[in-house]
Amino acid sequence: MIIAIDGPSGTGKSTVAKGVAKKLGYTFFDTGAMYRSVAWMIRKEQIDPQDREKIKKQLPLFSYEIKSDAQGMRRYFACGTDVTEAIREPAISALASQIAAYEEVRALLVQIQRNFGTHRNAVFEGRDMGTVVFPKAELKIFLTARAEIRAQRRLNELFLKFPELASSLQFDQILQEITARDHTDSTRSISPLKQASDAVLIDTSDLSIEEVILKILTLANWKKQYPPMKIFYRIVYWITRTFFKLFFRLQIHGLEHFRPGAGIIASNHTSNYDPPVLSISCPEEVHFLAKESLFHVPLLGRLIRRLNSHPVSRSGSDASTFKQVIQLLQEGKKIILFPEGNRSPDGTLQPIERGLAFIAQKAVCPIFPAYIQGSFAAWPRVRRWPRLSGSIQVVFGTPIDSELCMGQSKKEKEEFMTTQTTSALKNLKAWLEEGAHGTPP
Ligand code: DC
Repeated sequence: MIIAIDGPSGTGKSTVAKGVAKKLGYTFFDTGAMYRSVAWMIRKEQIDPQDREKIKKQLPLFSYEIKSDAQGMRRYFACGTDVTEAIREPAISALASQIAAYEEVRALLVQIQRNFGTHRNAVFEGRDMGTVVFPKAELKIFLTARAEIRAQRRLNELFLKFPELASSLQFDQILQEITARDHTDSTRSISPLKQASDAVLIDTSDLSIEEVILKILTLANWKKQYPPMKIFYRIVYWITRTFFKLFFRLQIHGLEHFRPGAGIIASNHTSNYDPPVLSISCPEEVHFLAKESLFHVPLLGRLIRRLNSHPVSRSGSDASTFKQVIQLLQEGKKIILFPEGNRSPDGTLQPIERGLAFIAQKAVCPIFPAYIQGSFAAWPRVRRWPRLSGSIQVVFGTPIDSELCMGQSKKEKEEFMTTQTTSALKNLKAWLEEGAHGTPP
């Protein structure tokens, strides 16, 4: 399995990637060190970084090795010289960013990285691991953090590594350098720094390294356990996901709360966009209910059936719907339910129906609370046709387990699960509105 971790500097990428690799017994590969090593060679050879011809001629002479010292620490060797410390100097950081924009440099290093990843369990960290080098990586992570936090982390790191530079290091200057480097890395024409559409975004600003590692390990474990999607479902899943990523800059948070097995995904409901948005935000196949009349529409009927929709008749009793849902849950499936009943007319949260809690405790399965923000603006009830642009975010919260209320009466259990779900949805909404920092509640 390849785990690709990308993101700008100062997000804790290297430490996190190293930690994840150690815990899983995988090989760790810091691709930034390679770009830094090429920059080191160019400086040693006193080549003008603008002189592309000279750089091209020099590249075939580049060699790169990773060895362990007596204490088991990694040492990086470029052209036979130990460059482990030298490549961390600030001057090399700037030069590495500059030469990383050159096609010939990237072509050489990407090839070395791919060769290294063949038939290996490895954690690769860099800027283009998920987008270019390993587009088929089993798990992709994109780390971010606020620029001020990243600058402070970098300052602390430099103080430790180069104490002699302590008096000359200024927070403002580091912040400026980080912002400039972000700009160069994310605006270059080849392989710019950007989140792959199927990468999980983790904001590390308010998280400890251990918390980030744990999130990634949880995701890696889930990845191994989720059953593979059926081919037709997978195709529609990726097309729909790409659509929402492109037109609505879809962001998905809280996937670390997800786990395999039966469960009800209970979400707010304001728009016809909600069922597809929520389905493609989940890392596995999900099931949902749809009006029976839709199944009689020639093509649509077949399509939604193959996408795990199950008909509910308006005239049918609640009992038959409940039975159907409980059956699916007992088969270990995940089902999306909108416990407010209907789409909210004004985008606000409506009271939750008790049927949700009834089903959860009958099937003895967890409720995964989810909140969708932005779909109301994109397609509210009053609009016949949807808008094709905007911004949508989905967040999953801590699962609510029906076992939590063992020993209580049926009525008490229902009361408890309903109140818990209502407050979970409110908390997720508040978490998004406060800027989506850290782990969702
Ligand atoms: O992660 P780092 O700061 O050590 O990376 C040094 C530079 O190399 C950085 O400016 C971006 C570049 N880089 C890249 O373009 N692609 C990678 N896969 C890794 C690093």
